[in-house]
Amino acid sequence: MSGAFFDGFYAKDPTYYGTDVRPEYLAFLDGLGSAEPAILDLGAGQGRHALVAARRGARVTAVDYSALGTAQLAALARAGDLPITVEQADVTRYEGAPEHFDGVVMVSLLSHLDLSAVQDVVDRAFAALAPGGQVFCEVFTTDDPGFRHAADASETAGALHTYFAPGTLLPYFAAFDIVSCREFVEDDFAHGPAHRHGVALLVGRKR
Ligand SMILES: C[S@@+](CC[C@H](N)C(=O)[O-])C[C@H]1O[C@@H](n2cnc3c(N)ncnc32)[C@H](O)[C@@H]1O
Repeated sequence: MSGAFFDGFYAKDPTYYGTDVRPEYLAFLDGLGSAEPAILDLGAGQGRHALVAARRGARVTAVDYSALGTAQLAALARAGDLPITVEQADVTRYEGAPEHFDGVVMVSLLSHLDLSAVQDVVDRAFAALAPGGQVFCEVFTTDDPGFRHAADASETAGALHTYFAPGTLLPYFAAFDIVSCREFVEDDFAHGPAHRHGVALLVGRKR
């Protein structure tokens, strides 16, 4: 799998996953304790979360291996004069500035990796965070219809490699103090045919 899979979807719509973000994400940004936090968005896609953060005053580094997604986000950042640095890179090899960021965002990223790469990428997020910095992470769980190849799965489920069984995301974040972690199933009308997702949503703080 490479960035080309998502390029095909991003070519159909410049806001393929919509523009909405969860209230928990806004609360996460507010909780970083800085008016201009440094944010690292890993697997940023077309920049749904990066753009919201930058418009609220954050300085953002957005990383994704999709050539089109990163180009679309860079164009939006330029047009809006937003402080977003966009890097086309594979997060499994990404070396960010150590202890630089107040927040790391990983929404729907870890489920796109092989299970064997998950701990390494979480460790890279940990290394990139300044002490006291926080991570906002969303993954898909085994309650996701994509896990059992059901009809109400996302049209992009073909790119998913790793579904987390209940309770199995937390151990990857053992180095963090867990601020919150909850698992749920929800409808998704933001892209493609209506479908459902099993989600685990975790916020953790670097000690
Ligand atoms: C489902 S999309 C989510 C995009 C964005 N986080 C959002 O919530 O709108 C997953 C993104 O992860 C990116 N991705 C998956 N594996 C990656 C990897 N190894 N390196 C960089 N980006 C990756 C894909 O290119 C895609 O843009």
